[in-house]
Amino acid sequence: MDQIIVRGNGPLKGEIPIAGAKNACLTLMPATLLTDQPLTLTNAPRLSDIRTMTELLRSLGAEVASLQEGQVLALSSHDLNNHTADYDIVRKMRASILVLGPMLARDGHAIVSLPGGCAIGARPVDLHLRALEAMGADLDLRDGYVHAKAPAGGLKGAVVDFPIVSVGATENALMAATLARGTTVIKNAAREPEIVDLAQCLRRMGAHIEGEGTSTITIEGVQALHGATHPVVTDRIELGTYMLAPAICGGEVECLGGRIDLVAAFCEKLDEAGVSVTETDRGLKVSRKNGPVQAVNVVTEPFPGFPTDLQAQMMALLCTAEGSSVLEEKIFENRFMHAPELIRMGARIEVHGGHATVHGVKKLRGAPVMATDLRASVSLILAGLAAEGETIVSRVYHLDRGYEKVVRKLRGVGADIERIKGPQIDE
Ligand code: UD1
Repeated sequence: MDQIIVRGNGPLKGEIPIAGAKNACLTLMPATLLTDQPLTLTNAPRLSDIRTMTELLRSLGAEVASLQEGQVLALSSHDLNNHTADYDIVRKMRASILVLGPMLARDGHAIVSLPGGCAIGARPVDLHLRALEAMGADLDLRDGYVHAKAPAGGLKGAVVDFPIVSVGATENALMAATLARGTTVIKNAAREPEIVDLAQCLRRMGAHIEGEGTSTITIEGVQALHGATHPVVTDRIELGTYMLAPAICGGEVECLGGRIDLVAAFCEKLDEAGVSVTETDRGLKVSRKNGPVQAVNVVTEPFPGFPTDLQAQMMALLCTAEGSSVLEEKIFENRFMHAPELIRMGARIEVHGGHATVHGVKKLRGAPVMATDLRASVSLILAGLAAEGETIVSRVYHLDRGYEKVVRKLRGVGADIERIKGPQIDE
């Protein structure tokens, strides 16, 4: 297993290009299943999760070509010959459930493995299923698989009223509704930029959608969708992560392609903590204001609130802030697994259920630490950038799921970081 070695070496300076959003790309790729014409995605990130979705779509008979070193994905589902998403692939990545709605909408049937457990909480898929049921689907859960059938004549438009906000369930319902007969109204819909990006792509494919980015999305079903080319929106989580690097280490970094509207709640907290963010014509420039970072309280919420996917990285910043901060995690239970690792580096953190209290210390110290999930792994790298001595992060395969070229990007702004190849073992 590879390891990443980080040595704290002072302020950072330069620019970091931000990639296309992993989470947007993972929902845009299954949209290919809605049409027999080609879908081309540009600005795609180069990540292992994207390769897993590629593997899944190919297993269904879709063609996926990776062009321009993976930045362009050419997808085609003209010849789907399998409607079963197998456990062996689905278990690797929860987003696999996003093939269910499109397959069911276009071909009237699909069998998709249930994703199973996940390190950051139970994360069921009941809301995805409930939405499809509202559209008339007949669902049978057998042997760990969802066996789904649409009524004769296809899915029907419906009112889908989610009891809680779910990004994935909104995406599945939105895709399915594009080909359903009549009107679908999704209430309490997720408002994340990735949903807006999906709606824009589907509209380019001929779908009739209104209201994306608000909590009510209305979709008028059409007979068929057609091909399109769509650029993947900027990754706001990668953006926020790299914005934290100069906030933690000092210096000034410009995140190319960054936009305030993607990270507004996060920027408010940075401002409160004493970090300056300015818009430039190429992105966002970040530096620390005068003096040390100040403690702030953070509550994670669905968009436009503070994203749960930036909570671990924000904790890394607050470890060396002046004063005590409280982080409240409201989206996922069990999402403080980075705390014990940060404590190994000298942080003072107390976790009580969904709250973590971080008492700022003057300095973190390098230590061997273990990544437990995608965002936790990058928080340890951020902490290592500001720590005295050497931090060795193992289990970096988590990182490869969501951050392309992390070592190269951080070295480009002067960080002392390297990746050490380890022996291949089955993960
Ligand atoms: C997506 C993101 C993930 C992010 C999360 C919240 C992708 C590929 N992943 O995950 O990075 O952390 O949004 O912003 O886009 N829930 C249910 N039943 C369901 C579905 C969800 O109870 O059927 C619960 C979840 O357990 C969680 C909450 O709803 O507590 C929100 O989850 P959801 O928004 O669905 O997250 P994902 O779409 O899985």
